[in-house]
Order: sequence, then structure tokens, then C-alpha cells
Amino acid sequence: MTTITIERGATAPRAIADCYRYLADFSTCEQWDPAVYRAEKLTPGPPRPGTEFRVIVSIGPRRKTLRYRLDAIAPGERLELTGRGAGIKTHETLTFTPGEDGARTHIAYHGEFSLRGPLARAARLARPAIKRMTAQAMTGLIDALTIKTATPRQGWLSYAADRTLLPGEALYTDRGYFAMSDRAHAEFMDDKTVAITGATGGIGRTIAAEYARLGARVLLVGRDSQRLAAAAEHVRGVAGCDPEHIDTVEADLATVAAAQAAGQQIAARMPHLDVLVNNAGALFESYGQTADGHEQTLAINLIAPFVLTETLMPALTAAQGRVINMSSGGMYAKGLDRGALEPSGDDYNGLGAYARTKRALVALTRHWFRRYGDEGVRFNAMHPGWVDTPGVADALPRFYYLLRPVLRDTRMGADTAVWLGAARRAGALNGAFVFDRTPRPTALLPGTAVKPSEAQSLYGWLRNKTGIDVHGLR
Ligand SMILES: NC(=O)c1ccc[n+]([C@@H]2O[C@H](COP(=O)([O-])OP(=O)(O)OC[C@H]3O[C@@H](n4cnc5c(N)ncnc54)[C@H](OP(=O)(O)O)[C@@H]3O)[C@@H](O)[C@H]2O)c1
Repeated sequence: MTTITIERGATAPRAIADCYRYLADFSTCEQWDPAVYRAEKLTPGPPRPGTEFRVIVSIGPRRKTLRYRLDAIAPGERLELTGRGAGIKTHETLTFTPGEDGARTHIAYHGEFSLRGPLARAARLARPAIKRMTAQAMTGLIDALTIKTATPRQGWLSYAADRTLLPGEALYTDRGYFAMSDRAHAEFMDDKTVAITGATGGIGRTIAAEYARLGARVLLVGRDSQRLAAAAEHVRGVAGCDPEHIDTVEADLATVAAAQAAGQQIAARMPHLDVLVNNAGALFESYGQTADGHEQTLAINLIAPFVLTETLMPALTAAQGRVINMSSGGMYAKGLDRGALEPSGDDYNGLGAYARTKRALVALTRHWFRRYGDEGVRFNAMHPGWVDTPGVADALPRFYYLLRPVLRDTRMGADTAVWLGAARRAGALNGAFVFDRTPRPTALLPGTAVKPSEAQSLYGWLRNKTGIDVHGLR
């Protein structure tokens, strides 16, 4: 057996409580350690001695799974972890010391890596590799704890990729997520409120868990009481938060009345709503109508976010909140064709109906930004990438079968939706269509750009269709 000892230290521009809190849930290492492919907290509840994490490390083209355990914690002072994997055992200590001004924290790292078998025999190679990896991890950690203020801009690579449709789509896979230079969620949201639709599964449930992990009070909207209860339990386990931080509203968003009632219930419980994530969405293979007589894709993907957002505008205005509308890269395929938004059952094309509603949601978002900008509420539409969810497996089985190995997991898919609501600098992107934390063009194909006048008439059309009172007008 060979033991390699590493010592490192660095100063983070954050208070000690923030540094400790961010690291105590060690699954955040996937956000700052470039060697970590994915990490997950396996033990439900708040981090405490005995809490376990699965950490998958990339070593060249190979992946190695380590199981970490929190051995000891001294809140605000120290964390001790043991990691175990084939041929390797680590004992790692992170010690926190306050800087003089209280706004900085020195983080000291001590790691002992015991190698056995082939790894021990390759110790001469392993030693510099471990040194390099811990140095990169420390740099990544300090960067993750640094609150960025610069306005995010699209890099030249993704700019070029966006304009060449196929390579652009390659970035919708997990490769695109890993190409992002910043993947941290370290801006806490204590005292903030977040409502998420479609929170019973897929991306929405993870969005809820990530907001709760940051300390926000979350309200999950779902149409099935059992799935809602299970999702709330899951969110509680992942975030390790108090049960009072999680609330639920049961609503099938397929009808105007139900969406409106859901909005009223949310407003009653969260009269200051900091973030609304209109995430619920669906793609149907065959034509179907809702009880209101609308085609169901239109009802869920466009009418429901319209009704919910308008109903919640007073609560959003009170908090100077943010609205995040979950669109899709599929919208690039279609322009805004109001006549085709409500398809009939003849020659029904589910993918076309989905793309049209997602295009319209992006246009509506931009209209809201123009209409309500002065009220201090911010609006974004976004694309989550291609994400491994029950929705994709059911609606697009062939796509799912072919691309499953490179699909994003739901934490990657939730990333931009959480960042838009939590990060200070996301405020600079008000009105933008966002993918992987950067503003993206809304039209790539000829004839698909939407004029402000067309978005405004879409808004009028939605008012007529739903008959609801919109914010500020009766
Ligand atoms: N996954 C992707 O690759 C991808 C790509 C681009 C965009 N998106 C968008 O991301 C969002 C989430 O997608 P996902 O893949 O996570 O989908 P998902 O796995 O199908 O989850 C959709 C969620 O929406 C809820 N929902 C559906 N119809 C509803 C209704 N009538 N009333 C209330 N809730 C309803 C579902 O509730 P139940 O549990 O009751 O079914 C579920 O919680 C959608 O807007 C989707 O269009 C996803």
C-alpha cells in the first residue's frame, strides 16, 4: 500500500457560513471539481456524520466510482470525509478559518490517499496526477464560491454551433453542459419563495430540489396527490430542508379554471413570489382535447403558463420576482403561426404542435418582458438541453433509445432554470432566451423570427381564448 499526502489552501471571497454550507453537501463537488463527472447525496436529510455520497470521477476516458462518507463535522469549522473505491481509500479534511473582515474564508485541505494493487504500483504516476487534480479542484472551488457579476455572453464556439444546426444540437447533450465554464449554484436563497409546475417528475422535481437545497421555500404544483407527496418527500431528502419549506398545490393545468385556481392558491400562500418556473409541458402522439375544448398541447404548454403568470403577477410584482418559462430547442423548427396553434385532429402532428407552442411561449415571454418590464418582474424563456426524463422516454422512444448515453441527467437539465432564479447576474439577461446560462438567438431558420407586433397579437389572442383578466387591466 502507498499513501500520498496532499496539503492545499486558498481563500474564498465568502463568509465562513456560506463556504461551510456549500461544502457540507459534498455532492456540490460536481459543480467545482473538474475531475468529478457526477456526484449525488445518497443519504436523505441534512448533511451529518454518516451521510454518504456517490462520486463518479473521470480519469481520462475511464470513470471510477467512490463512495464518500462524512465522518465528522464541526459546523463552520471543519468537515472530514472518507472516500472508498476499488484500490483507493481517501481521508480528506477541510478546515475553515475566517478572514479578518469576515467576508473571506481561508479553506485548508488535507488529503491522504491510500493506494492498493495496480494503483499503488503506479504510485509514481499517481502522485503528480493527484496533486494536479487537487490543485484544479481547489481553483474550481474558489471560483464556485465567488459571486460573479459580469453579464454572461455567448462564447464564439456556441455562437458558431448555433448557426450550424446539427453541431449546435450536439451541445444539447451532456457535452454542452460540461462545456460550461461555470456550473456552480452557491448563491443561497433563504427567505425566497419559488413555485414550480410539473414538479412531480423529470426536470421539474429536480428544479424544486435544487432551489430547496439553496434554502428557498418551494411550492410544487402537480396534478396527482400521490405523486405530489412522493415528490415533496424526494425534495426534502435531497435538499435536507425543513418540512415547512415545502408546500404543494394539486392542479391539473389542462383547463383555464384549474390553472387560475392554482395561481390563486399559490398567491395566497406566497403573496411575495420570487420565482415562478412554468416547467410543466407535454408532447402527445395523438390529438386530444381538454375539457375547455382546446388541443391539449396548446392548453398545457402555452395557455397554462399564460393564465398562471397573469394570475400571479401581483405576487411577482410584490417580490420583484422572476418568471422562467420552459421552452425547447424544438421551437427553432417553427415560426409563430397563430392559425396553426390550435390544430385539429386531421393530420395531427404531435411534434409540430409541441414546437409551435414552445415557439409561442418564447414570443409570449418576450412580450411580457416588454409589457411588465417597468414593474420590476423579469422574464426568461429557456431550453434545458436534451434530458433523460420519463417525458422523453414516453413521447420520443426512438430518440431516447439512440441518445440515452449522452442525454443530460435532470440535475444538468435543471441547471439553467435554477441559475436564472438564483444568480445575481442572471438579472442582466432579462427578456432573453437562455440555454446553458447564456443568451441565445430565438430564430435560426428563415421566416421563424417573431416581430413585437406579432407577439402582441398572440397576447391578445390568448386573452380572448382564456377570457381571464390580465394584470393591470380589467
Ligand atoms: N426532457 C427534455 O429533453 C426536454 C427538452 C426540451 C424541453 N423540455 C421541457 O421541459 C419541461 C419538463 O420536461 P420533462 O422532460 O421533465 O417532462 P416530464 O418528465 O414529462 O415531466 C413533465 C411534468 O409536467 C407535468 N404535467 C404534464 N401535464 C400536466 C398537466 N396537465 N397538469 C399538471 N402537470 C402536468 C407532469 O406531471 P405528471 O407527473 O402528473 O405526469 C410532470 O411533472 C417541459 O416543458 C418540456 O417540454 C424538456
